[in-house]
Amino acid sequence: MNTREFPQSFVWGVAAASYQVEGAVDADGRGASIWDTFSHTPGNVLHGHTGDVAVDQYHRYPEDVQLMREMGAHSYRFSIAWPRVQPQGSGAFNPKGFDYYKRLADELHRNGLTAAATLYHWDLPQALEDAGGWPIRDTAQRFSEYAREAFRVLGDHVDLWITLNEPWCSAVLGYHVGVHAPGRQDQSASWAAGHHLLLGHGLAMEAYRSERGSGDGVAPIGITHNLESARPATDTAADREAVDRATDMRTRFFLDPLLGRGYPERHFAAYPESTPPPVQAGDMETIAAPIDFLGLNFYFEPALAAAPVGPLGTSQDGIACHPEGFREVQTYHERTEMDWPVTPRGLYRHLKWVWAHTEGKFPLYITENGCAMPDELSADGLRCHDPRRVSYLREHFTAALDAIEEGVDLRGYYVWSLIDNFEWALGYTKRFGIIYADYINQRRVPKDSYYFMREVISGAEAL
Ligand code: FCB
Repeated sequence: MNTREFPQSFVWGVAAASYQVEGAVDADGRGASIWDTFSHTPGNVLHGHTGDVAVDQYHRYPEDVQLMREMGAHSYRFSIAWPRVQPQGSGAFNPKGFDYYKRLADELHRNGLTAAATLYHWDLPQALEDAGGWPIRDTAQRFSEYAREAFRVLGDHVDLWITLNEPWCSAVLGYHVGVHAPGRQDQSASWAAGHHLLLGHGLAMEAYRSERGSGDGVAPIGITHNLESARPATDTAADREAVDRATDMRTRFFLDPLLGRGYPERHFAAYPESTPPPVQAGDMETIAAPIDFLGLNFYFEPALAAAPVGPLGTSQDGIACHPEGFREVQTYHERTEMDWPVTPRGLYRHLKWVWAHTEGKFPLYITENGCAMPDELSADGLRCHDPRRVSYLREHFTAALDAIEEGVDLRGYYVWSLIDNFEWALGYTKRFGIIYADYINQRRVPKDSYYFMREVISGAEAL
């Protein structure tokens, strides 16, 4: 049989994020985050769901780690809830909050997994939002202080660091579209937020180098983006230009500063009624601090068509929204429960595009990839057959392998998600897990995709 293999050192992991899985929102001195406030405000989250309990990983992490060990995963990507470790986002730190992440990391190590920690997966301390949130510069400073303390306290427990998860979502969905916390709708504020998120990342990089250094023996640190390399819906100049505009907003805005290439100024110039990001002397140098790797979250490759620049609109999934003169169009692809098209070749193209655009400056990780499908437990409650997720994963793994074989330095692959969880504005209605969560009794049931991944990791399943 002609089997194709991932490199020996390839890291197979699973991912989740604090507010989506932990629950225990009042435990051990945790402060409130913008997602507590947002989800408790009627009308923001489908069915009024909140992360109050989620899958209670705060208390059930040993069981979850056990399941990861049994599938042979090499690494768990989790996030640190800032308000757990610094309840007000400034001032006193909360040792009990840090203790939880030590316990989690140590449990992972005992079971042969590494700990990949994200510092910010969207749960800003509410007190910082009350003071102005990411649109104000001070929040970047606060973030770097929190980051420094996390590096100091958890530095010997974490094997890979990610500063921010998808700052585009925090800035655009949180401050412009308003479908994510804190739910504001102000384009200038979202651009300022984007800049301060990136600045916070750069300042955190400085803190990391001064606390931990760099080079061999130092845990790598990077950032995770949801960049987009869309395709034009038709091969017309108008649609190609629409893709170019979309690339400015999502990709060049968030990636080019890391490469020392600054912001796509023409993007801001196209919206004279909004204020460009408040860049101060030295900021762009801070943001361009060398990272050890770039994390990519990939779900689908959209097809975009030109549309009039206009007021906010809401696309079919109720979330994606492009006031910047483009719209997503339906293609012939199968679609997931999120109404996202299944586009594995898009992952291949994305990896190749990013690798070329970054000139191979840093290794890549896929820090999230997966899909929501209409999973149901078997009648006996013991199995969950999710054939569409199995084929989704198989096709995306193959696409990644294709890119690796063509020279892309992809080091690892984290599947989203370890377990079904709180899917932000859509609450518990979308299931992304490779483990089924019974939200009534917190029972975990590995899905077929879990067993499929186990076979891929062990090499028993050929791609
Ligand atoms: C990403 C988020 C992650 C999860 C997936 C489905 O944008 O980073 O938390 O919600 O989408």
